[in-house]
This record gives sequence, structure tokens and C-alpha cells, in this order.
Amino acid sequence: MSLKRNILDLRKRKEKVLQGGGEKAIQKQVAMGKLTARERVTSILDEDSFHEYDMFVEHEARDFGMEKKELHGDGVIIGTGTIYGEPVCIFAQDFTVAGGSLGLMHARKITKIMDHALKMRVPLIGINDSGGARIQEGVNSLAGYGEIFFRNTLASGVIPQLSVILGPCAGGAVYSPALTDFVFVVENISKMFITGPEVIKTVLGEEISMEELGGAKVHSEITGNAHFYALSEYECFEQIKKLLTFIPWHNAKKAKAFPPKPPRPEYKIEEIVPSDPTQPYDIRNVIKAIVDDSDFFESMENFARNIVIGFGRMNGETVGFVANQPLVLAGVLDCDSSDKAARFIRYCDSFNIPIVTLEDMPGYLPGVDQEHMGVIRHGAKILYAYSEATVPKITVIVRKAYGGGYIAMNSRHMKADFMFAWPNAEIAVMGPDGAANIIFRKEILAAADPEAMRKEKVAEYREKFANPYVAAAKGYIDTVIEPQETRNMLLHSIEVSSNKVDGRPAKKHGIPPF
Ligand code: HXC
Repeated sequence: MSLKRNILDLRKRKEKVLQGGGEKAIQKQVAMGKLTARERVTSILDEDSFHEYDMFVEHEARDFGMEKKELHGDGVIIGTGTIYGEPVCIFAQDFTVAGGSLGLMHARKITKIMDHALKMRVPLIGINDSGGARIQEGVNSLAGYGEIFFRNTLASGVIPQLSVILGPCAGGAVYSPALTDFVFVVENISKMFITGPEVIKTVLGEEISMEELGGAKVHSEITGNAHFYALSEYECFEQIKKLLTFIPWHNAKKAKAFPPKPPRPEYKIEEIVPSDPTQPYDIRNVIKAIVDDSDFFESMENFARNIVIGFGRMNGETVGFVANQPLVLAGVLDCDSSDKAARFIRYCDSFNIPIVTLEDMPGYLPGVDQEHMGVIRHGAKILYAYSEATVPKITVIVRKAYGGGYIAMNSRHMKADFMFAWPNAEIAVMGPDGAANIIFRKEILAAADPEAMRKEKVAEYREKFANPYVAAAKGYIDTVIEPQETRNMLLHSIEVSSNKVDGRPAKKHGIPPF
């Protein structure tokens, strides 16, 4: 054959593969409100930047009639491309080909691009849309998943791994996303569960829809498996791209710097926190009053809302924020919020992102439920994560810092580099009401007017301890600042910390309270 005919032959082969599972299957995909796998890849990447590999891979299954089946690309697309001009690796399962089910060659394609991403130190984006392990391929499918999970773990903390759930993600398939850094879901499209409604009905007799069991809302609000929730695939792709502007390409790099911008003038920091310590307010407004252009990119917005996590920039550099949210449960720490914050702290620490902690919380949440759900174990995660982190760590006590919460929220004792408090900060073992009731119980009971005495003792305790100066006198707080000084103090502290050298004892790895 001449070169010309060979080229025509190549083009024909490519065209065939590009048809995926064929017109009918594509129509079904579109009818479900879903984009095709290739549309997804090209929508996420810079225009014309996608380069596909392993297009001509064929499955090797010979049982259950598989020998007669041609599965284009074996149901998955892999390749490289760029986002904002920077290289990334990507794979997308193609539901139109055998339901995107994962067989041996399908898995080999995914692991090939994962190996590439790790070796080249570039982010990996995985788009999941699959019926799970390819049933006809038996243990080979399970082996394939195992190889993926192993690589997810190897790559963890080295390159960013983003999982995008754009269809079913069933059975063991959910564990790859769970091992990655950020999971994106889309309303009505994403479904994640270990066993589906059919199995649940058979085994337990319980009836539940796929959406109620493992839809996008469930994972954003209840389980905490998803970090970003979108109303459409296109909105989801914008979120992916935005996240990538905040994080570095690998763990030996810093995130890209942007031109500095002041916060927007409508966020007036001195007007956000009410003077009455019992009044709630939205801590996100404090973050917006601090960060460049008031642009705060929140992660896990709808899960464990009593703590807020996310990224912002200060003088153009990425900063991770962890902040108690007085709007929800007065901002207490509990099982879920500790878990949420701890993972984020570890992310920032792995990827050289300084952490700013804003504190306003009355302590850990008391109660039988919390105790029995393991608040000791989960609460310990945040202590572990802050103690372990060696990136620059700065805390601002905005209002309350009581009890275990004071210690946990990146206190001096967790080795915060800088500790600041606003003048209205209250730092003590517990709130004035609880404290006075305990330490002045006898006086209160013996008083002619116990309620008046109680009030007097609460006021006495508040005067003595519910302020920042006791902690400042011991050097636990470096300085007390006015709210308006916060951004400048943070900018300076981050700048001063930019060559921070800190270490922990050499070890294979620690044993965090997972
Ligand atoms: C082989 C599969 C498949 C699978 C779907 N297909 N899942 N083929 N193995 N796991 C095929 C279907 O046969 C069909 O092929 C095509 O994909 C489209 O599937 P439909 O069922 O027509 O689509 P839909 O009605 O949209 O339903 C989607 C679905 C359903 C809900 C995902 O297909 C389903 O329940 N699949 C099985 C899910 C599951 O139990 N997976 C195994 C989990 S166990 P044709 O040729 O008709 O177009 C697991 C263990 C891994 O994953 C453990 C790792 C540790």
C-alpha cells in the first residue's frame, strides 16, 4: 500500500473508533442529558489541545459472546492536553460502549495514563461514567480496579487527582474517586453507591431510588464524598478549571501566582462580626474581606457547614482557609467538620499551600450521638493534621476560642507560626456561663438571690478570662489586632514565612486516626 492509502486507512480506523458505541447509544446518552465522553474531554481542555492514545486498543475477552463484540477503545478515552496552557492527563469512560464497564484493557488504558501523570508530574482528571466491573471479564475486571486504586494511592500527595462523576459510578468503582483529592458531581447525572437499589431491595427489602441513594445532592450534603456540586456539566467543567488555577501542578511546586488585587470594598471587615457574642454571622464574609478580589473558592460547601474550607489568594498567592462557621451550630467542631477540615489541611500541607485559620467556636459538640459516632477519633484528626502540617500556618481568633477547640484550631501549641486575636476574642477553657456555674456553684446556691449572684459571677469570669489578653500575656497570642489590620498582618506573615523551614521526626509514615 502506498503511504497515501495507509493514511486513508488510518483515518477510516479512527473514524470508526470515534463513533463510540454507535448512534443509538449516543442518542440514549444525550437523552439522559449527558455529553459524550469526547465532548466532555474537549470541553474541559484548551481548544484543540487533546491528544488521544490507545485508540486502537481491543478487549481480549472470549467468554459470554464477548469474542463477537467490538468495543471501540474498550469503553474509555485516554490522553493528554492542556488547561490554561498547562499540561494535564485525562481519561473519560464512554458509557455508550458496553456501559463504560471496566474490563482488563479498559483498566490498562486508565493505569497507563495514571502512570504517565505521576511520572510527568501533571494533574490527573478522571471522568467516571460506568456500570462498574465488566461482568463478562470476571476477576480481570477486579484486578483492573485494584491496579487503579494502588496508583491512586501512589499518586496521592504528589500530583492533584480530580474525579468527575458524570453518570453511574457503582460498586468498587467508587473507591477510585474516594482515594482522589477532589470529587465533582452534577445534579441528576452523578450517582455513586457500593450496592445499587436492586441489591438493597433484595438483601434488605428497602426501596430507594438511585438519586436518593447516591445522587449528587446526597454526596454533597450527607456523605461528604463530593467536594464540588454543579447544576450542569458545563458548570462542573468551569469549577474544575477554576480549582486548577488555585493548586500547584505537583507537590514540589507552588501554585501559580496571579496579579495581586485588593478585596472588594463592599466587604467591610469591621462591620461583619456582631458585638453580641451570641449572634451568628457568615464567616465567609470575613474571608471575602481579606482575600484578593473577595474571590473565595469554597470546597464541600454543603457538607458539615459548621466549618468552611476553600482557597483564596493573598497578594496573588494561593492560601487555604479553614474557618469556623458561627451560622451553623455556632461553628462547633464535630465528627464531620473535623474530618472535613483535617483532609483539607493535609491537602494544603502536601501541596505547599499556606493555611490561614479563622477561629470562632465554642468547642467540640457535646452529646451522646457525637460520642457514639466517635467524636474522639474524628476530632483527633484535626489535631493530627494541624500538628503534622509544616506549611506556613497562621491563625486569627475572631471571637470565641474555647476548650478543645482553642487547641485544635491551629493554636500555638499545634505550632502555628503566627497567632493573632481581635480585641473582642474570648479565649478560655469554656464559655463564661458554663464556667461560672461550675466554679462558683457553692456561692451561687448559697446566695440570697442565686440568679443575681450567677450573673455577677458570669460577669466576673467574662471580665477575667473572656478576652485575648490572658493568652497574649503568656505569648500564646503574638498580638491583638484591630479587624482592619487583619489583611495586612496576614500578607506580612505569609511573606515572612515564604522560606519557612520546618520538619518532623523521620518516619515511614505516621498513624493518623483515620
Ligand atoms: C458489562 C455492562 C455493565 C457491566 C452495563 N453494561 N453495566 N456490561 N458489565 N457492569 C452494559 C449493559 O449490558 C448494556 O449493554 C449497556 O452497558 C448499557 O447498560 P444499560 O443497563 O442498558 O443502561 P442503563 O439502563 O442506563 O443502566 C445503567 C446501570 C446498569 C444502572 C449502570 O447498567 C447496571 O445496573 N449495571 C450493572 C451495575 C453493577 O452492578 N456493576 C457491577 C458492580 S460490582 P448493551 O449491549 O445492552 O447496550 C463492581 C465490583 C468492583 O463493580 C469491585 C472493585 C473493588
